[in-house]
Amino acid sequence: MDKKILIAGFGSAGSFALEYLARTPGIEGHKIIVGTRSTDEALALINTIKVSAAIMGFYPDISLVKMDLGDVDRTAETLAEMKPDIIAYTARFIKGVKYGQYSYPNQIGYGAWIALSLPLIYKLMLAVKKSGVETKVINSSFPDGVCPALKSAGLEPFCGAGNLNHLVPRIQAAVAGYKKIPAGRVKVVMIGSHFLNTYVSREASAKGSPYYMRCTVDGEPFNEISDEEIFKLSKIPTASGPPRNMMIASDMVKIIQAVVFDQNYFMHIPGPEGLAGAYPARVSAAGAALELPADISRSRAEEINRASLSFDGIKDIREGRIYFCGDIIDKMKKIFGLNYPECIKLEECEAFAYEIKEALSRYRP
Ligand SMILES: NC(=O)c1ccc[n+]([C@@H]2O[C@H](COP(=O)([O-])OP(=O)(O)OC[C@H]3O[C@@H](n4cnc5c(N)ncnc54)[C@H](OP(=O)(O)O)[C@@H]3O)[C@@H](O)[C@H]2O)c1
Repeated sequence: MDKKILIAGFGSAGSFALEYLARTPGIEGHKIIVGTRSTDEALALINTIKVSAAIMGFYPDISLVKMDLGDVDRTAETLAEMKPDIIAYTARFIKGVKYGQYSYPNQIGYGAWIALSLPLIYKLMLAVKKSGVETKVINSSFPDGVCPALKSAGLEPFCGAGNLNHLVPRIQAAVAGYKKIPAGRVKVVMIGSHFLNTYVSREASAKGSPYYMRCTVDGEPFNEISDEEIFKLSKIPTASGPPRNMMIASDMVKIIQAVVFDQNYFMHIPGPEGLAGAYPARVSAAGAALELPADISRSRAEEINRASLSFDGIKDIREGRIYFCGDIIDKMKKIFGLNYPECIKLEECEAFAYEIKEALSRYRP
């Protein structure tokens, strides 16, 4: 049966996702809809993607709809009419601004930005609920913390995307490079949150954060070198800015493909079942089902991820509230002049996001 796939928010990640989706074999029987505020800009890019896909022999059905995710009522009406089967959320509260550029040099956990990561996906989930449409929302926005926050308010998305899934191929390549074998013979299973991905990628270190990692070669355990040595070998230069979004777009499209074609893809998924952090999982039309190795229990995996999330500055998430760690509160005050509360409710995030936006516009490193 034809599926309707909505790309909600059409910036750099959204446009890479459309490019990859447009060239997916078998996509022609399905409908892709781009939802954006900036329809003129989007139309030109969509036409370019269609022409490029046609050059390669793909003729995807792509259309465009005006959509302001800030307007819950109007978005709910659009969704009720459109009835998308899948929504790939790829908007960003402050266009073009990667928040890590502010927090990483100041050694502030990424969780500090959760008030920016939340408002638009929160409103989208409210709109989905209001529309009454049965749909699968894939959340790209800091899913390690945002998915559990949404779940705690009864607004759980289908799953998250990105983060740890971007580290795994580097680890795979590191082991393959060491063994001088093709990367496809290496399997990596990891548990950990956004912090792990950030610091192993940037500094080849988990920086004391808890994690789980097992590598196998042709199914046999690989223990020839330490995790630290693997991390060092995995540290490779990668692009920053918009080209970096090729990775998150690949996650989004792989999850969409798993759902549309009901494939049972093995991936690392942040926020499955609204859990904090990321887990190995099998993704299909039924959902992202955790696939934990035999030597780790689910409760231990959840414990690792909750502790890992606290390295990103989030102490707890419960009953529609996010609790920040003390060092974030102190650093955000000292560096950006922002008064962080001990905890914030989901519905308060948007107003606080405007305060953060204003503070960042004044900030001079
Ligand atoms: N999990 C990961 O590993 C990972 C990695 C990278 C990025 N991401 C996430 O991917 C998402 C997209 O990032 P990006 O770098 O592609 O962002 P971007 O290039 O800055 O684009 C953001 C887009 O959001 C749109 N937008 C903002 N407010 C909107 C609203 N009210 N309604 C509809 N659209 C709105 C903007 O549209 P206008 O032109 O109308 O302003 C813009 O096109 C972000 O949530 C980011 O956190 C995740």
